[in-house]
Amino acid sequence: MPLLTMKQLMKDSRRLATTDSDPKERYAVGAFNFSTLPEMVGIVEGARMKHAPVILMASLGAVKYIGSLELIAECAKGLAKTYPEVPFCVHLDHAVDLDQIKRAIAAGFTNVMIDASKEPYEVNIQKSKEIAEFAHRYSPYGADGCSVEAELGMLAGREEHVQVSEEDAGKAYTDPTLVPRFVEETGIDALAVAIGTAHGFYKAAPKIRFDLLDEIRKCTDIPLVLHGGTGVPDEDFRKCVAMGMSKINVGTGLKKVYTDAVRQAICDLPDTEYDPRKIVGPGRHAIMEEIAGKCDLFNCTGTAEKILQSIYG
Ligand code: G3H
Ligand code: ZN
Repeated sequence: MPLLTMKQLMKDSRRLATTDSDPKERYAVGAFNFSTLPEMVGIVEGARMKHAPVILMASLGAVKYIGSLELIAECAKGLAKTYPEVPFCVHLDHAVDLDQIKRAIAAGFTNVMIDASKEPYEVNIQKSKEIAEFAHRYSPYGADGCSVEAELGMLAGREEHVQVSEEDAGKAYTDPTLVPRFVEETGIDALAVAIGTAHGFYKAAPKIRFDLLDEIRKCTDIPLVLHGGTGVPDEDFRKCVAMGMSKINVGTGLKKVYTDAVRQAICDLPDTEYDPRKIVGPGRHAIMEEIAGKCDLFNCTGTAEKILQSIYG
């Protein structure tokens, strides 16, 4: 089974989010940051347990740590062969350098995020458009072999190298009036929105602007993406999904789950235990359990088959 694009993964959730469907039937696809192979496997295994789709996200920091875009793309391709029953894509997250994004597309990433959200609106349009045109034309998998996410508005917090102060972010919720032209002119496949979440751990519970989500949802029918999923209360996730959010990103919380489990394993094992599988294995298992829980929360449990059917018939 080849890797899928985010657009293919979300065809069904997008239909439910943008039609007069029962809000209880709507679901979002979980997107999770990783920086090692055991985390990648844990994420896909967790989705497999729940017969759910999933998105593997490499941050710029992960690319640097792992060493190359090609290595990540090849690992993802290998996983797709090993887990044909899991619909998933491999995504480059919060990328800013157009050349690097084009290299990721050429290497075989099936979704990329061009994050020009800090740029003026016109520059954001122009850069997002350039990437959308390139991705839709030059993926090694052929036309439409890679889809594109872009962002309007700014989230507070730190996402690897990108730091946005709470003050700046407060000024930069997504403006719904800017959405239609942005989507139309850029040709992107999904839109990341700033509606009150932030990257990293929260000091206080986030105040999500559901009114804004409602307005944005009415302005466009492309899938919407919620960033900064760590620490968002379950009830808020459920409400976002019922209101038509199609992709939910979680990073920091998953790192904690993995690291806590590895730390615990090191504490529990005797000093004479050197088998990395016994140390890292519990981390991978903890990730699997966490992803499985998120699939239930995002209501995408059990949707893998109909997604594959919507693509392959
Ligand atoms: O793009 C990645 C996510 O927005 C991660 O956010 O680390 O707050 O969960 P988070
Ligand atoms: Zn993000």
